[in-house]
Amino acid sequence: MPTRLLLLLCLTAHVFAREPPEVDCLVVHRKYVHCSWNMQGTPEVNYTFYSRFESEKVFSVCSNYLRENNTNTGCKQPYQNGQRFNSFNTKLVHGKQISEKVHELKTKVKLNPPTNVTVQKRSDSNLWLNWSQDYVACVESEVRYRVNNRKWENNQVSTAVQEYCVNLPSSSSLYELQVRSRMAFSCGESIFWSDWSRPVVWGSNNSTDPNRMNKLMPVWTPVLYVVGAFILILLVMMLLHHERIRIIFIPVVPKPSSDLQNIEDWFQFPKGLKESFNYNEHPCLVREYCHVSQSDSEACSVFVPGNESDLSTSCSSSTSTVSTEEEMISV
Ligand SMILES: *[C@@H]1O[C@H](CO)[C@@H](O)[C@H](O)[C@H]1NC(C)=O
Ligand SMILES: *[C@@H]1O[C@H](CO)[C@@H](O)[C@H](O)[C@H]1NC(C)=O
Ligand SMILES: *[C@@H]1O[C@H](CO)[C@@H](O)[C@H](O)[C@H]1NC(C)=O
Ligand SMILES: *[C@@H]1O[C@H](CO)[C@@H](O)[C@H](O)[C@H]1NC(C)=O
Repeated sequence: MPTRLLLLLCLTAHVFAREPPEVDCLVVHRKYVHCSWNMQGTPEVNYTFYSRFESEKVFSVCSNYLRENNTNTGCKQPYQNGQRFNSFNTKLVHGKQISEKVHELKTKVKLNPPTNVTVQKRSDSNLWLNWSQDYVACVESEVRYRVNNRKWENNQVSTAVQEYCVNLPSSSSLYELQVRSRMAFSCGESIFWSDWSRPVVWGSNNSTDPNRMNKLMPVWTPVLYVVGAFILILLVMMLLHHERIRIIFIPVVPKPSSDLQNIEDWFQFPKGLKESFNYNEHPCLVREYCHVSQSDSEACSVFVPGNESDLSTSCSSSTSTVSTEEEMISV
């Protein structure tokens, strides 16, 4: 019971006292220490910031505040080489409120992104990425690149190396490369990477459409093959089973001139068929038996293969002959 009461008391005290916010610090590019206290939002009052490294005797007040809406939110303190291996003490003060903290900055170095990043294809046919970063001997890097906006591929680069090679790139693809760096293990490894450098590109930007095609091709090719084979088989079956179709593909059209006189020979009617050849729907060859008064196309009603000499004068065109031929053979 007393512990609960104490806890409640503590909580209420915490709410009313408005503890100064937490301070967080980073060594930026080994140039300065960046501390901030606005992680929980912009504070309502101007805190005064004091700091000192273990090696320093006294706290010094911040000389370069970072502000947000005219309120202090951070401080940039100068940094001397090697100081990050010492503890860093900070003090945030507003009136009677004081919050102190001890920071270990050894692993909290954030470098600026590499500069002068270039990409070029060298005579060895490989693509080479180069960059510049300070503290070469202490810095390890990570390169990432992607081809045609696909997934990024990350690759570690050893300490002190400032180049990276992409093997045998395809000039019809678009390569996008970035690099970032951090303090290497040998110099006190940092947990923070720098931001990525601005991407550099190499290759052709025109390949996006062909590539989309290439991606679709593996999906569609088998389908097309199957459909093509199916149609082929279907055609073959139709050719084998339907004489009518065969005749369409290989029409036997006789020379219209003198052969017309012997029309019975090229049709080669069966004897019975010849007699029963009476139908109404399609154009026939003999005009003199047509009822001229009706409309032209479907006017004919009777076909009587009779006098050969009469036929020769009345048949109109070879096309009508073909259609008649089809019809008669299918019967
Ligand atoms: C904080 O300090 C700045 C500059 O001294 C001042 O303009 C601003 O009004 C102060 N803000 C508060 C909340 O006191
Ligand atoms: C940038 O890189 C190129 C080639 O790697 C080099 O010749 C040039 O001096 C570099 N410039 C800077 C400012 O580092
Ligand atoms: C894209 O293709 C056009 C014509 O084919 C060419 O003129 C242009 O330089 C190409 N652009 C790139 C980035 O390769
Ligand atoms: C490639 O082309 C697209 C449009 O076709 C454009 O939006 C994009 O910025 C281009 N990228 C590069 C790296 O040139």
